Amino acid sequence: MDKVRIAYEMDEDILTEAKGLGAKADALKDVLYEKKLPFTGWVDYAANIPEETLSRIEKTAREIAGRCAYLVVIGIGGSYLGAKAALSFIDRADSKQPGEWPEVVFAGFNVSGTYHRKLIERIKGGDICLLVISKSGGTLEPSVAFLALKQLLTEKYGRERALSRIYAITDAASGKLKAEADANGYTSFALPADIGGRYSVLTPVGLLPLAAAGIDIRQILAGAASAERDDLTEAAKTLACVRAALESRKDVETFAFFDPSVEDFVSWSLQLFGESEGKDGRGAFPVGVGISRDLHSLGQFFQDGKQIFYETLLFVEEPTEDITITGPDAGDYAGRTYHEFNRAVLEGMTCAHRAVGVPVIRVYIPKNSAWCFGQLVYVFELTCALTGLLMGVDPFNQPGVEAYKKGMLEYLAGAGGAGR
Ligand code: PA5
Repeated sequence: MDKVRIAYEMDEDILTEAKGLGAKADALKDVLYEKKLPFTGWVDYAANIPEETLSRIEKTAREIAGRCAYLVVIGIGGSYLGAKAALSFIDRADSKQPGEWPEVVFAGFNVSGTYHRKLIERIKGGDICLLVISKSGGTLEPSVAFLALKQLLTEKYGRERALSRIYAITDAASGKLKAEADANGYTSFALPADIGGRYSVLTPVGLLPLAAAGIDIRQILAGAASAERDDLTEAAKTLACVRAALESRKDVETFAFFDPSVEDFVSWSLQLFGESEGKDGRGAFPVGVGISRDLHSLGQFFQDGKQIFYETLLFVEEPTEDITITGPDAGDYAGRTYHEFNRAVLEGMTCAHRAVGVPVIRVYIPKNSAWCFGQLVYVFELTCALTGLLMGVDPFNQPGVEAYKKGMLEYLAGAGGAGR
């Protein structure tokens, strides 16, 4: 079966240091798999998800698909980035009968009135369902979007019918959303208590919207489970050791995508790595880079600027579509494919950047399948958790995010609120 491959091009001393971290990483991997730390439920969730839960997700997805043209997923951070990444990444040949599934649109990941007004104008003519996702159940951005969209539904369908079009994913026991879901009888799924937002894409949080979009979620889960079974956990461990060795040398990690289908996966990765590793004054700052677009804007800095970064290059080996250049003007390019040009960019860029000492990690993704998406997600989650533990930080908390939320709520309740 298809398998993600990871290759390293960097100075020997970095690889030697990484090798030296191997025994420690092995021990930490055992700790993770024994689930002795809080928030480690994700390590075997995808492989062991109960058939009953999976069938219920698929049944609910079919129900949603039969009821609407638009499914609005309301959430922020880990509550929407994974589903968005999968929708962009997975080739629709991997979905069931295109055309029968609603368009999935996203809300509540910003506080832009313009964005939400335009979204409402775009969808209001069609049938709509809402899927509100929030682990805490009280995050401001999705809460505001939920209020605005619930109002739209109420105006369109009347209160009772509107409420029947709302689906929720939240904590099993606590929070404002849980209370509202219980009071109004929303069809709900629980985000397992031992899985944090950014590690939740392979739970109902990602699976329900993807199933509602017609994607074969069993393939995603099989891909993730294959990583857990196969030597990809070893590959994740090696990657974690290399990243830990690089973290003490470089301040920035650029995640470069060579195909737009991978851009949202990079956004998901930025949250995963940034929020898990960026604490206690540690971590390499993760940045997304679009290739070859950004070689024509940031390329000068990469080649010649302050050498503060290392690169993680995400390359799809078998593109979903390709074009062979033909025609009377093709000249030297005649018979060449886009994929060949893309590979030339990868090789040319690596060669140029290696010449000035940039450490390069290459992640080869076999294709844009649901299987590969699941595998890649699991490999990155494991890599991230192990890197954080090797660095000595807690990869499962996010005190910095909480601090901003507190500041914003204080502002709303105090001077900002009073001074409206
Ligand atoms: O990883 C996390 O837990 C956070 O980034 C959350 O995903 C984000 O803050 C959204 O929180 P919630 O799902 O509670 O609304």
